[in-house]
Amino acid sequence: MPFPDALLAIPHRRDIPFSRLTTLGVGGLCRWLFEPRTEEEAQRFIHCCFNEKMPYRILGGGANILALGDVEEPVLRLNLDGECRVEGSLIQASASHGHILLAEKAANAGLSGLEWAAGIPGRLGGAIRMNAGAHGGEWAQVLDRYRFLTPEGDLVEKSPEAGDFSYRWSHLQGGHLILSASARLVPSETAAIRAAMQVFRVKRAASQPKERSAGCFFKNPIGDSAGRLIDAAGLKGQRVGDAMVSPLHANFLVNQGKATPAQFQELMAIVREAVFQTYGVVLETEVEIW
Ligand code: EPU
Repeated sequence: MPFPDALLAIPHRRDIPFSRLTTLGVGGLCRWLFEPRTEEEAQRFIHCCFNEKMPYRILGGGANILALGDVEEPVLRLNLDGECRVEGSLIQASASHGHILLAEKAANAGLSGLEWAAGIPGRLGGAIRMNAGAHGGEWAQVLDRYRFLTPEGDLVEKSPEAGDFSYRWSHLQGGHLILSASARLVPSETAAIRAAMQVFRVKRAASQPKERSAGCFFKNPIGDSAGRLIDAAGLKGQRVGDAMVSPLHANFLVNQGKATPAQFQELMAIVREAVFQTYGVVLETEVEIW
């Protein structure tokens, strides 16, 4: 693919296996991985792609992606300074900041409201883009301001408004790039925040597998749980090669070692078909399929 010089001036690497870029550890090759170190470089990337009418993809921590094959179009993964700032009850960080680390920094600063995030891997940008959540908490509840680039490369800074975020969804799909965000939290005792985080960690360790996964694989259908449905359809432990429905939590499809994209694709189809045949429910993936 002939890329313009302005794009090639941005730091990039070639042919990186998605097994190294995603928590699930499965996939083909990322042919072009662009890693801008500054917001200006990121904006240049988007402008170039927009001008050339070239599709691109955005990768965060790779914690919610199943890459089924090689990806030829340019992939952007921000490599911004991971600093975070606390000002009063606000904590602000770049999209590249580690999600779990941010929850820990909030606790250290005596700020409550991100305890639920303590066990969710990935980066801040990805967490906001999918409105990540657990234990009744989600980003939409604490998000104060966020800055992003539109698919045309325009910089926008705003506060969340009605309709911007819903269950595991935000308006920041289709080429929007989150640059930074701040959360409005509540001052509290660090010890109490840490204790709440520990309760969530213990709960998570007891109910979610430690093998490589992309977190919950399917969205919960309204009023029900995908895990409960897959479990009740008798699929716990179901395997296709090294791809397996976790015996611990049925909504986790785990990589037992050397799972291939084809094995995951087949397992995913078996699960959807069984849940549809048994309950008439069409499961929608929560994981993004590339
Ligand atoms: N259940 C089963 N069998 C299973 C798994 C679950 O019967 O194999 C039952 C549980 O006993 C419970 C119900 O299903 O009665 C709900 O299960 P759980 O409490 O584990 O919550 P979940 O709805 O499966 C959601 C989020 C998780 C988040 C947990 C904890 C989704 C798709 N999942 O899971 O988020 O960690 O609540 O708050 O929204 C993720 O987003 O990647 C993720 C893992």
